[in-house]
Amino acid sequence: MKKILIVGASGQIGTELVLELRRRFGEENVIASDVKDEPSDLLRNGIYEKLDILDNEAYLSLLEKYKVTEVYLLAALLSATAEKHPDFAWKLNMEGLFNVLNSAKEGKIQKVFWPSSIAVFGPNTPRENTPQYCVMDPSTVYGLSKLAGERWCEYYFKKHGVDVRSIRYPGLISYGSLPGGGTTDYAVDIFYHAKAGKDYTCFLKKDTELPMMFMSDAIKATIDLMEVPKEKVIIRSSYNIAGMSFTPEKIYAQIIKSVPNFKISYSPDFRQEIADSWPKSIDDSEARNHWGWSPEHDLKSLTNNMLEGVDPSKLF
Ligand code: NAD
Ligand code: SER
Repeated sequence: MKKILIVGASGQIGTELVLELRRRFGEENVIASDVKDEPSDLLRNGIYEKLDILDNEAYLSLLEKYKVTEVYLLAALLSATAEKHPDFAWKLNMEGLFNVLNSAKEGKIQKVFWPSSIAVFGPNTPRENTPQYCVMDPSTVYGLSKLAGERWCEYYFKKHGVDVRSIRYPGLISYGSLPGGGTTDYAVDIFYHAKAGKDYTCFLKKDTELPMMFMSDAIKATIDLMEVPKEKVIIRSSYNIAGMSFTPEKIYAQIIKSVPNFKISYSPDFRQEIADSWPKSIDDSEARNHWGWSPEHDLKSLTNNMLEGVDPSKLF
């Protein structure tokens, strides 16, 4: 019997992942947990537990209480927030992962999902069509923690047989829950402004190209990877996956087709340097070949979905 624990469930990915896992495997089999006291509105139906993943005893007793078989670990500080709190980012992003990997090593759970990021790449990485294997010299605290995490995942698989699976997510675009401190968040904020009838000041330059993905594709990739037979998961560090790539000026051009009066200006801040160190586009051949990954959304369908789904009262 599958019993899934999501750690960091109230965030941008967790909120939508919990809903989809509950739809597929039943409300009673998916336990949402987060350091926040209360679940977000979208997660009120179903089991919710307050959990700080740095409290290993509390984590282990939740595994025991619900006889958990799989953990999706989403608690982390993202790129922009991590640069402001480097010590804590390293602590949360690494210790949280060790607590989960060790519980799998000790046989308390059977499977782990842990997300990596395009932030594992750095200024000397080939930026166009970035391959699965290449120079990786991340220059952010977040990227350091994700690259180290990838190496530990592979190590726990090889040395201890831990069934850990991972994806290097690009920037994720969604309207279910607000994003939490990333460099790619402009591509979410822009929709809230467009729909609210407000001008938008973008914190990246207009020609900054980054890999992005609509959330439903990311959720599909995540669950597909977790559900494929073990032998198909050949890469145990983390898989490149791609959806689309665009710049602020390209997404703006797409939005004004539906919101012609929408205005944008540009005022790059510290996040520009982070974005400049990341790939522009990703080669995801291994994910396609090993477990059949392919995305559904392009810039046009992402834009239409976002303009329809975004509720500006969440932000303003
Ligand atoms: P988010 O910031 O929206 O959500 C993280 C959640 O973790 C929050 O609800 C927060 O309350 C919770 N949390 C923080 N500290 C915790 C703790 N000590 N114990 C338990 N919960 C805690 O982040 P997200 O965008 O949902 O990202 C989830 C994961 O995916 C992260 O590992 C992130 O690095 C990775 N990722 C996200 C993106 C993206 O574009 N969103 C891209 C690449 C990788
Ligand atoms: N979207 C994430 C960020 O900007 C990438 O991991 O931090």
